[in-house]
Parts: sequence; C-alpha cells; structure tokens
Amino acid sequence: MAAVLFTSWRGPVADPWPDLATVTDHLGVPHLVVTRHALVRQVLADPVTWRPENALDAVTPIPVAALRVLAGHRFRLPPTLANNGGASHPRIRAIVAEALHPARVAAQQPWLTGLVRARVDRLAAALDAGEPVDLYADLAADLPLRVLARMVELPATQTATVKEFSRAALELFWAPLDHDRQVTLAATVGRFHRVLRDFAATGGGLAARLRADGHPVDVVVGALFFLLVAGQETTSQFLTLLLHRLTGEPAVLAGLRAGTVPVADVVEEGLRLEPPIVTWRRVAAVDTTLAGTPVPAGTPVVLWLARAGRDPAVVADPAAFRPGQPGSRRHLAFGAGAHRCVGAQLSRMEAAVVVTEAAPLLTDAVVVRPPWCPDNLSFRMPDAFVIRRDRGRGGNPA
Ligand code: HEM
Repeated sequence: MAAVLFTSWRGPVADPWPDLATVTDHLGVPHLVVTRHALVRQVLADPVTWRPENALDAVTPIPVAALRVLAGHRFRLPPTLANNGGASHPRIRAIVAEALHPARVAAQQPWLTGLVRARVDRLAAALDAGEPVDLYADLAADLPLRVLARMVELPATQTATVKEFSRAALELFWAPLDHDRQVTLAATVGRFHRVLRDFAATGGGLAARLRADGHPVDVVVGALFFLLVAGQETTSQFLTLLLHRLTGEPAVLAGLRAGTVPVADVVEEGLRLEPPIVTWRRVAAVDTTLAGTPVPAGTPVVLWLARAGRDPAVVADPAAFRPGQPGSRRHLAFGAGAHRCVGAQLSRMEAAVVVTEAAPLLTDAVVVRPPWCPDNLSFRMPDAFVIRRDRGRGGNPA
C-alpha cells in the first residue's frame, strides 16, 4: 500500500477512485484520502472540524537520533502559519500577507522580467549552438527565491543556503525515509535553523515587523522557516512542471505566440493540471462525518488537491490542457479558506513572466530528460528538465 500513498498523487490516476478512501501508508498508518473537489473544499472551509495542526508533521516520524541532531541546533517549529489553528494565526498571516501585498508583487515584475529575459537569451544561444539546457537548474530553480529574498529582505549571503535547506526540509517532513537519511537531513535542516535564528533576531523587513508585533523569536523563526520553503520551492517546482507540460502542448504554445491565448489562462490551467503540491493534510478534531461516512476524532486526512483539479464535476474536459476552459480557475492548488496560500498572487506573477519569456524556447524543443520526482506525499520536487533544439523542425543547428 505504501506505493499507493506515495506515488499515486502525481500523474494521471487510475479510475475509478472513490470519493473517500482509507489508504495505509508505508508505516501501516491509515489516512482518510479525500478525492472530490466539493469534499476537499468542504474540509478546507471548516477549520473547526478539520484542523490544520498536522500540516507539517513528519510523514515518517523523526527518530531519536535525528531529534537529537535537531535539538543540538535548538530546532523548534512552533505553530505559525500552515499548521497554526490557534489564536495567533490571523495576526501572523496578516503581517506575511502585507509583505506579499499585490502592489509589492507587481513592483517586482519589471526586475524579474529583465532577469528572466537575460537568462532566456543565454539559453536560446546555447540551444542554437546545439547544446542541451536544463530549464530547472538554469532557469527555474532559484528565481522564486531571488524574488522572495527581495520581498522579505533576506540578505543575499543567506539565499545560497536556503535552496539546499528547503529541499532537505521537504524530504525530511514529507517523504518516506530510512533512519540514516533522516539523520543526514536533520543536520542540514538544523544548521539552517541556526542561521534563520540570527536573521529572525536581527533582520529587517518581515522579520522586524513580526518582532515589532510582539512575536517571540521562535515564532519569527517558525514563520520564516515555512515561508522560505513554501514561498519558493513550490513555485520553482511549478515553473519546471509547467514548462515541461507545455512542450507537449503545441497548440497552446502557438496561441501564446499569436497572442490568442492569455498567459494568465495558461498559468491557471497549469496550476489545475500540474500543481506542485499534490496533497495537503488536516486532522479531524471531533467525531464527525464526511459525505455520510463516519470519521472519528483524530483521523488524519489527506486532501488530494491534484485530483480535485481533475474532477469532472468542475471541469468539462479534466485531462485536457485548455487555457480558459470553464472550471479551469476552480482548482484547489492554493488550498482554500483560512489558510489559503498567501503567495498565490506572487507565484502567478512569476509563472506568467517565465511562461511569456521562455515559451519560445519550447517551440522546437525535444525533451532530453523529463523532470523526475521522488516519492513525496505532498511536494513534487522535480530534479531537472533538459531540452535541446529539434534540428528537424526548423531549429538552428550549430
Ligand atoms: C505555485 C506555487 C504555490 C502553491 C501551489 C502553493 C500552495 C499552497 C497550499 C496548498 C497551501 C495550504 C493551503 C491550505 O491549507 O488551505 C499554502 C499555504 C501557504 N503558502 Fe503557498 N503555494 C505556492 C506558493 C507560495 C508562495 C510564493 C508563498 C510566499 C512567498 C507561499 C506562502 C504560503 C503561506 C505563508 C501559506 C500558509 C498560509 C496560512 O496558513 O495562513 N506559497 N500554499
């Protein structure tokens, strides 16, 4: 059953899946999996019955040896954002939302466009010369982090370490792991936590605003920890997955070129069909029912966001990439309700810039190496996406 819990989330899914299913994970723990759009939405909209406290729980419980490593770095993760169902959540969320205000997002667009355009020019030259290029490593991987660092005033010296740490965190908390790997990952995550603590205690921007609002340093660290994972890994994953998907959608690429397909619609359809976060968790706070099924208090619930985006009750042609089709925007890639993603606007802007600038690279592309995604309950974490120019289709051979 482990394979079911950890690999089914990604791609096309065997039908029929029931609306609700109890699925046992790699350790034999049963989870209630919710597959239908309406039911996923119902759970997300009711944070009293379905609480978010388990959102960041390690899928593979962290063993004592790894906990010792974390404790050695004074690692603590108090509830702040995604896993905070308490009274402090609205204030912390409001401060983070202010830092990511649409006006501040829009202000980053010209700078980001310049950066992406320069990179795309270099990549186009390499493709023209007959070389393969990796659109993950050479384009998408660090872009969202560079934008976020500007928005939360993270010093440039710390951005380099964030990438290593954030992938380790996604693995430590959301992957099926063995003991030794957990200890290794704990060392990386713990080391970063130490760096973050200095930034949280002395940094300007968002860190300073959280401190000024009276939040203890532990809480500032917790908020930054989540933000630096959620606020950039997700988007770089999404950019990679979307660009890969577009290589197989020549009509969409032609529409973008001709100006007949709006880029915003392409991004939305991408979020619906290629969400970087495929599942998200809640826990039943009380004995309750869902779609008539009794759910005892304490039941861990896995909301299958990716599946909800393909629900035929919501989208007429669920498997097809048709920008602007009815229902396209009703995906749940960003969650819903009190914890809905506060970075939605930012990631949409980033994706629109990258698709606009990079789409021409895809037109005559051959996929040399599609993205490979490791087993992970929630995050897709593509590792590479290599293309080269198809010389037979009018590319410019070296
Ligand atoms: C394509 C990119 C992204 C996707 C698919 C995504 C998805 C999600 C999802 C599914 C949640 C949980 C929602 C819920 O529980 O209802 C979430 C929460 C959150 N996201 Fe994102 N996210 C993305 C990008 C970002 C960015 C760019 C930022 C910030 C820079 C960000 C910051 C957050 C924060 C702070 C929360 C917690 C909100 C709260 O608990 O109040 N995310 N995101």
